[in-house]
This record gives sequence, structure tokens and C-alpha cells, in this order.
Amino acid sequence: MHTTLGGKPKSEARPKFPVESLRTQFPALKHAAPFIFFDNAAGAQIPQIVFDAINRHLLECNVQRGGRYPQSIEVDATIDRGRRSVADLLGARDPSEVAFGMNATSFIRLVSLAIGQSLGARNEIIVSEMDHEANIATWMALESFGAKFHLWKMRDDGNLHSEDLWPLLSAKTRLVACTVTSNALGSIVDVPAVAKFAHDAGAELFLDCVHYGPHGLIDVQAWGCDYLACSGYKIFAPHMGFMWGKRALLEKLPTFREDFIPNEPPGKIEAGTFVYENVAGMTAAIEYLELVGKQLSSNGGSSSRRANLITAMAAIRGYEEELSIEVLEALEKSGATIYGIRPKERVGERVPTFCFNLPRVSPQVVTEEMARAGIGIRDGHMYAPRLMKRLSLSMDSGAVRASLVHYNTSEEIQRFSDVLQKLSKNG
Ligand SMILES: Cc1ncc(COP(=O)(O)O)c(C=O)c1O
Repeated sequence: MHTTLGGKPKSEARPKFPVESLRTQFPALKHAAPFIFFDNAAGAQIPQIVFDAINRHLLECNVQRGGRYPQSIEVDATIDRGRRSVADLLGARDPSEVAFGMNATSFIRLVSLAIGQSLGARNEIIVSEMDHEANIATWMALESFGAKFHLWKMRDDGNLHSEDLWPLLSAKTRLVACTVTSNALGSIVDVPAVAKFAHDAGAELFLDCVHYGPHGLIDVQAWGCDYLACSGYKIFAPHMGFMWGKRALLEKLPTFREDFIPNEPPGKIEAGTFVYENVAGMTAAIEYLELVGKQLSSNGGSSSRRANLITAMAAIRGYEEELSIEVLEALEKSGATIYGIRPKERVGERVPTFCFNLPRVSPQVVTEEMARAGIGIRDGHMYAPRLMKRLSLSMDSGAVRASLVHYNTSEEIQRFSDVLQKLSKNG
């Protein structure tokens, strides 16, 4: 049985999701209107408070950290606030387990290089067929360190099943690398079950949480993972990445650092300077989500940031399920081939990211026609070559992807549906 990540509330208790008032907080939605942003899997828009936080940082403290003057002390405080905010977003116990950097890929590479140097007799790594290539190729590059690989296959229902992982695990498995949610299909993986199997075999679990990030509650404690990478730019923040790892494991990781940098997280994971204004933006994006939680609480919210985030992400999950049903209906009406989870009663196992093809219309033509109609979607391989192969799709043309987040609306889906119907009729 697949668990539903993200703490979805019972539907009878669900208040109406305030999408219109939340949309007013995203200046780009108004600026580009009536353009429709349905390419959120490649990056989401940012709320005004995120703009303000970045601007304020650049105006008031655009200096290097670690100095003894007020502006520099404020940079250190900004990073500290960022770590505590992200720790609450992830459900982490200790902010020192959070590291900031450029993007998720560079963090996956950083951890994989460290694991590669400490393989020993446990030299097997399991990667999945459904993952973004960033969480496959980075691990496969460890072949020169003596690593061996197993490919965890996706089932025909468009998801990974932990039962299929079990036979791949052995006393030689060092690590399982898998996604929380497919950036191509939107399928949510039952990661607590994956963690249990991996740990029973004595292996570690690295989770790619990039695609799941904006859609539901992340809970590194409940999920039982060992490492997790995320990209801020998918979670209503600017272009930056962050990672989390269990402190005891991070302490042991052999990472590059200058000799005088202590061998301790987070400093040992953050060689060089990262973009401090974007950390300020990430903190503000979490504040936005916290405010959503407060707005949706009958009692004005909790004094605990995590509690407000739990409320916000549960409401977002519930609203996005409604959007998913509407998109599925529009795709079915147009005769599209939908790759991934289709039954409406299983929308709890997906986020509103849809990969599809229309009969007799190339993916490129679909996205060009959508662009002419003022709708931004994407075609191609979605950086998932193994998944494309599994779906018998070519790397050249691939499929079409429409990816929604909580600021998208039924009216937008209706406009998307109108273009789809026109295309399928003329196809
Ligand atoms: C599931 C998934 N993993 C990894 C990545 C790479 O993330 P980044 O651009 O932060 O390196 C992406 C980017 O789209 C993604 O969707």
C-alpha cells in the first residue's frame, strides 16, 4: 500500500483554497497576464516578499560574511536564519545539517564523490529508472571508484515500488539514490518504505527532493532518509540549492575543504562563497509558505513555523489534487496518451505534473501552439533519458509536460484544455 506523503487533510475538513488572494502575492503572474505558467517543474515564480528580501540584502548587506562590522555580521545572521528556516521546512532537528549552494546537481555530485572515496566492500549503488539524470549519472560516474550499479525499474503504473527494490539490495549495497517525485511523471514514491528496506540491508538512502519540494510537506525524520537535495528555485525562491544530511554522516563524509576549515558540517559542505541574497530569498519563500499556513488556520496559526508549514503544505496538496483531476479530465478528453498515474482515485500518489503526447501531433508542435495561445509548457526528454527509453519515447522529441503548482487555477486549465481539444481535432 502506497502511503500519501504530505499530510493531506480529510476532504470534509478542507477549507476553500484561497488561490486568488495568493496569486496577488506573485508579481510575475500579474506582469505576464494573461500568460499561463504551466512550466513550474523547471522553476516557479516568486512572491513579493522574496523580491523584497533579495533587494534588502543587496541594499543593506552586500558584503562578505565573517567580518566584524555591522553589514557583515548581518550576512552571518541571514545565513543563520536561512539554515533555521530550511531546517523547519525539512523537519530537520539540527540547522547545522543544512548546507547552501548552487543547485541540487552540485550537491548530488559532492555527496557522490565523497561516497565514492569510501566505498570499501559495500560498493553497490542502486539508481532508479524514473529519476532525473542528475540523480543517476552522478552516481554512475563512480564506476572508476569501483562502484557497481543496479537499476530499480519503474512499473507500468508509472511509479517505483519498494517491493521491487528489495531483491536488488544485499550486504554489498552502499546506497540507494532515488527521487521523492518524478519530475517527468509527477509520481510520488513511498520513500519511508524505501528507507526501511535500504536500512534493513545496511545501506543509506539519498533522496532527490527537487520536484516534490513545492508540492507537499518534507519530513526527513518521518521519511528516515540519510541525505536529501533540493532546489530553491522550484520552491518559490531564486536560483539556489540546499541539501540536508544526518549530522553523524556529514561529519564522516570526505569533502574538499581548505585545511583551515574545520571538518564539520555545514562548513565542510560549503567550500567557497554561495549566493547570500538567494539564501535571504529562500528564507522569505519559507515565510510565504508559513503565512499561507497561518491564513488557512482557523485560529490565526501557530507560534511554531513548522506547524504552520504543515498546515500550508497539507492545503496545497489538497488543492493540487483538485487541479490534477481537472488536468487528467482535459487530457483524457483530448485523447492524449498520459504517461504516469492516470486513475483519478490515485491522484494522492501524484503531483500536478503531466507528461503526455497527442495522437498525430509532435510534442514540439503542441508546445509551440500552446506558446502562441499564451501558455508556457515544455517538450523534450525532461532530463530523464532512461525513463524516455522505458516509455518508448525518443530523446529527440520526447513528450509534452505541463506542470502546475498551487497558484494555478481551474480557469487556466480550461484554457489549456481548449487548445488541446483544438490541436487533437486538427491532428
Ligand atoms: C527531479 C530533479 N532532480 C534534479 C534536478 C536538478 O536540479 P538543479 O537544477 O537544482 O541542479 C531537477 C531539475 O529540474 C529535477 O527536476
